[in-house]
Amino acid sequence: MSVVLTELSDRILTVTINRPEKLNALNGEVVEGLRSAFHGAKSNGDVGAVILTGAGEKAFVAGADIATFRELTPISARDYARRGQVVLDLIETLGKPVIAAINGFALGGGCEVAMACSIRVASKNARLGQPEVNLGLIPGYAGTQRLARLVGKGRALELILTAEPITADEAHRIGLVNRVVEPGELTATCRDMAKKILSKAPIAVRHALEAVNHGLEMPFDEAELFEATLFGLCVASEDMKEGVAAFLEKRPAKFSGK
Ligand code: COA
Repeated sequence: MSVVLTELSDRILTVTINRPEKLNALNGEVVEGLRSAFHGAKSNGDVGAVILTGAGEKAFVAGADIATFRELTPISARDYARRGQVVLDLIETLGKPVIAAINGFALGGGCEVAMACSIRVASKNARLGQPEVNLGLIPGYAGTQRLARLVGKGRALELILTAEPITADEAHRIGLVNRVVEPGELTATCRDMAKKILSKAPIAVRHALEAVNHGLEMPFDEAELFEATLFGLCVASEDMKEGVAAFLEKRPAKFSGK
């Protein structure tokens, strides 16, 4: 059985990290499986949105596979961190919404994977954190960067320095997750959210993702210019004409993705 499973239905690709006996810890095979799944999702026109989750009831991902850390050297550790960062960048810049369905522990690399997603929905029993300092390490899949951008420097440093996991409700309070739901409602909530986004103009959705993801890394005035350019590009789409016409004609829009 593969360590990363994919299933496509209704234009939603569900990617499931499948090592439940090790709480879906990320080893090289899982990272490569994620790269391959998201690479495929990017180029597959039948995929409109992705839901990323973990197999079993206990964990989304309980972190990088600690068993593999014994063999690391400074050089291989740097390569290891870069490989993971590149895969998480691929998730973040997919051009399609990616929803993390956090069904349990999201620790270390698991929290970092979730943060690379566009939106995070957590089940009430989820626990999130960056416990790397317990192991004499720091986050290496861009956790120091994405966490500070998502929740602010002070809260990011508290999570990273104390290594204490937080509950889903606390993660919601500080803005680390978008929603908290009962475990039995997690899949349906994520699918409803994906379907809602899929009903919108696809080019506008792609440009909105790009404006936020890339714009946040630019000086404000350059980001404004970038946003204005993408706004202008949207006007070239048939979907923009359809969306405006549908509103004025008081009917639902029929978007073609062109
Ligand atoms: N890497 C490798 N194996 C891991 C793992 C990880 N990050 N997290 C869990 N596992 C393995 C355990 O070793 C155990 O394997 P075993 O049954 O062969 O002994 C199995 O998954 C189940 O985990 P277990 O620790 O027995 O479950 P628990 O409910 O008692 O505790 C956690 C759950 C998440 C609190 C605990 O597993 C944990 O602290 N994991 C490490 C979290 C971490 O530090 N992540 C960041 C890594 S940088």
